[in-house]
Amino acid sequence: MKTLSKFYFLLIVTIFNQSCAKKHNDVLDYETVIQKSAAQYSEMNKAIHPQINNKNFIPRTIRNNAIRLVNLYDWTSGFYAGSIWYLNFLTEDEKWKHLALEYTKKLDTIKYWEGNHDVGFIMECSYGNAVKKTASKAFDSVIVQTAKSLSTRFHPKAGIIQSWDASKKWNCPVIIDNMMNLELLFNATKISGDSTYYDIAVSHANKTLENHFRPDNSSYHVLNYDTENGTILNRNTHQGLADDSAWARGQAWGLYGFTVCYRETKNPKYLNQAIKIADYIKNHPNLPKDNIPYWDYNAPASDETPRDASAAAITASALYELSTFTKEDSNEYKSFADEIMQSLSSPTYFADKGTNANFLLKHSVGSIPHGVEIDVPLNYADYYFLEALYRYKNLK
Ligand code: GLY
Repeated sequence: MKTLSKFYFLLIVTIFNQSCAKKHNDVLDYETVIQKSAAQYSEMNKAIHPQINNKNFIPRTIRNNAIRLVNLYDWTSGFYAGSIWYLNFLTEDEKWKHLALEYTKKLDTIKYWEGNHDVGFIMECSYGNAVKKTASKAFDSVIVQTAKSLSTRFHPKAGIIQSWDASKKWNCPVIIDNMMNLELLFNATKISGDSTYYDIAVSHANKTLENHFRPDNSSYHVLNYDTENGTILNRNTHQGLADDSAWARGQAWGLYGFTVCYRETKNPKYLNQAIKIADYIKNHPNLPKDNIPYWDYNAPASDETPRDASAAAITASALYELSTFTKEDSNEYKSFADEIMQSLSSPTYFADKGTNANFLLKHSVGSIPHGVEIDVPLNYADYYFLEALYRYKNLK
């Protein structure tokens, strides 16, 4: 009898120790954050689903104290469907899958749109997630048709994809954000076997590497190209503090984009660039203690300067993937991502249920130079936050 009690005592002590150890390894209270995210987006869905057949039906941000819904041609139109896909992957609750499919299919006609490079964002975050993470082949043709449309913006002599159409200011603008549209091209080649899309993506990445970066590894926002010979006519900003400043979200787009390029090509020059950008961000003297950057790394460090939670969420998601490609530095990048996610999951950034127009994260910035979306929620901050949670879960 005595031996049996001792056995049970030791068993209880072992189980207790193991559960303590588990808690110590979990830097993020992952399950609680998922639960809170799902609860908040259930409220979001209740509020906006009745408008799904309206022209404007996709939640983007808050404007004049009310939710701002946009139509499918808005560059952010794929993020809501994408966030719902991630809620399905994170919770394994089928209700999110039905909803994700409903919002994804609403974007179908974008596959023919040649008017903007952002079709990569729109279709990869919605259809792309459906294709990559469910075994379905149903949307393969949508990805390939979108890649065809995006490829019409490629200028072979300059080797780049044009971001926006020509304007008074720029002949052929290419923005650092455009690195985010390459994943769709890589996927289109995998699906179709047609290497054209892969080659365009690689050409664009090479030109960006050559022309967009400064000696300190920060990047310009907008480059104006001569499409005949590929020379750079101007180096400017659109959403940053100054032409020669480091707009926070732009640095995050570059980090994420070059990490994807390395995943898809295994060319070490892309990995090196991603590491350089990660180090630029991590070691920046102007990065606040909680690791959520000011909207521009050159903006004054002060309590009044707005932060950009969207840049932080994109950075965290990219860092989790980067940490899988680097050997000796992998813990450093994962720990940095964990620290960012701890801040974003804290009450300072993560909204209480039913507040923040039912978006998850507070304190992002759309464009300060244009005076729009300052210190607001943004649907892409939520998307990359959920993606980062998914990556965190799958790294463990
Ligand atoms: N791609 C537009 C932005 O980051 O604001």
